[in-house]
Amino acid sequence: MSLNDQELIAGFEKIIGKTQVITAPDDLEPYLVDWRKRYRGQAIAALRPGNTQEVSEIVKLCAANLIAIVPQGGNTGMCGGATPNSTGRQVVISLNRMNQVRAIDTSNQTITVEAGMILQSLQEAATAADRYFPLSLGAEGSCTIGGNLSTNAGGTSVLRYGNARELCLGLEVVMPNGEILNSLRGLRKDNTGYDLRDLFIGAEGSLGLITAAVMKLFPRPVANWTALVAVPHADAAVELLNRFQAGASAQLTGFEMMSDESLALLKHYYPALASPLSGPNAYEVLVEISDYESEEHAMQLMESILEGALESGCASDAAIASNLAQARKFWDMREHVPLAQADDGPNIKHDVSLPISAIPSFIATCNDMLRAKYPGVRVINYGHLGDGNLHYNIAGPSSAQTEEFFTSKSKEIQALVYAEVEKLNGSISAEHGVGQQKVAYLKGHRGEVALGVMQAIKHALDPHNLMNPGKVIAS
Ligand code: FAD
Ligand code: MLT
Ligand code: ZN
Repeated sequence: MSLNDQELIAGFEKIIGKTQVITAPDDLEPYLVDWRKRYRGQAIAALRPGNTQEVSEIVKLCAANLIAIVPQGGNTGMCGGATPNSTGRQVVISLNRMNQVRAIDTSNQTITVEAGMILQSLQEAATAADRYFPLSLGAEGSCTIGGNLSTNAGGTSVLRYGNARELCLGLEVVMPNGEILNSLRGLRKDNTGYDLRDLFIGAEGSLGLITAAVMKLFPRPVANWTALVAVPHADAAVELLNRFQAGASAQLTGFEMMSDESLALLKHYYPALASPLSGPNAYEVLVEISDYESEEHAMQLMESILEGALESGCASDAAIASNLAQARKFWDMREHVPLAQADDGPNIKHDVSLPISAIPSFIATCNDMLRAKYPGVRVINYGHLGDGNLHYNIAGPSSAQTEEFFTSKSKEIQALVYAEVEKLNGSISAEHGVGQQKVAYLKGHRGEVALGVMQAIKHALDPHNLMNPGKVIAS
């Protein structure tokens, strides 16, 4: 006989203590809603374990009583993956208290951290050890390394250092039956059978709970130079990227693009972050060069590549940040575009991945198609051009109309945009994952065989579908 809710709560309290079992409606509320406020669910409780053993005991109790589990980190995910659904008995397990550095090995260039560590704290711990941890994204002040790994987060330095997956060497995972899988090895080579680590990275909590990870560290660059560059059209942005790739090679560490409508939204909601370039410009690009040699070397590189770009016409204007504050402002501009969008109201989000060469024609085709069909529609198009990752987001003609437009047009606009993505052999999720938002599109996108393999893996590890049910794979 399985326990009722009161008995379960008493069981959880015995494992982690009364204060770490959240059941009061007001206290529970933040765990039940996603960052974009598009999803809301229900849960018996939110549980805040303090160590891996406690996570394991909680999961065993849930498994014995067929209680579903929703792992949650910083709750900044874009696809509703960390939000419980509204049916069935489930608990949220928040890893936020598990936020310690377990070990740091500067000679091996690795750091072992608990999964609830905030990304920014990890960056700071690396700096304190005179090392560099490159994963960086707008939500870094609140997202966690467990969430970053579970979504295989990308961010702004992927073109040089890779996604979260490429930065991880080992994991500790609590399996759906409560067993602890310990693969916390800081090895760059290990060919002993199937790669279990990569199964959990990007699984969005559907196969187990990541409780700790060994992450790679890097030497700290001696110089960073940031520039904001105006380009007349998307083809020119790609040409500019190719110029930087040819001229700066691995020293190119950031290449972010913002469209005119993204910049207009930014100026409206954050006037202090209005672009210093004269405009309007079809696109502005943020370029970052990092150097291991010297400030002068990096500066020369930046200046000479920009000179060539301005002469060729692929850039029409440029400003190189002359100090740290100005560089910070350029990054703030880019990172506040999603915040300005959130202030403006709901938008139809597309986090698409495409061959970089196909991006200009994708934008042109989708812009023409959507503007013809939905007069006045706003295309808030920005993203990580250096990785071929666009956030091609669509909003109604004015702020007043965003909610109604979002509700009535989301499905048909997503179908139109995703059809173009498929034609170009792209992906419907570059870095945000599937969550509950894209579950319905997965079969069409990945195909029956791939989905069948995913279902088989899910069933083998989680036969009762207790780990984040309804996320990634339909229940
Ligand atoms: P959550 O939102 O809490 O969870 C995300 C998913 O991971 C859920 O499915 C959850 O169940 C699962 N999960 C969380 N922790 C664990 C765990 N320990 N074990 C197993 N499963 C777990 N994303 C990018 O990739 N690139 C960006 O540039 C970027 N910029 C952003 C900017 C802003 C302003 C915001 C709000 C978000 C941005 N994101 C970006 C999205 C988001 O920050 C990332 O997806 C991030 O990796 C989520 O981390 P989190 O700790 O908040 O995870
Ligand atoms: C970004 O690149 O700013 C993030 O992925 C967030 C978003 O897409 O809104
Ligand atoms: Zn992004």
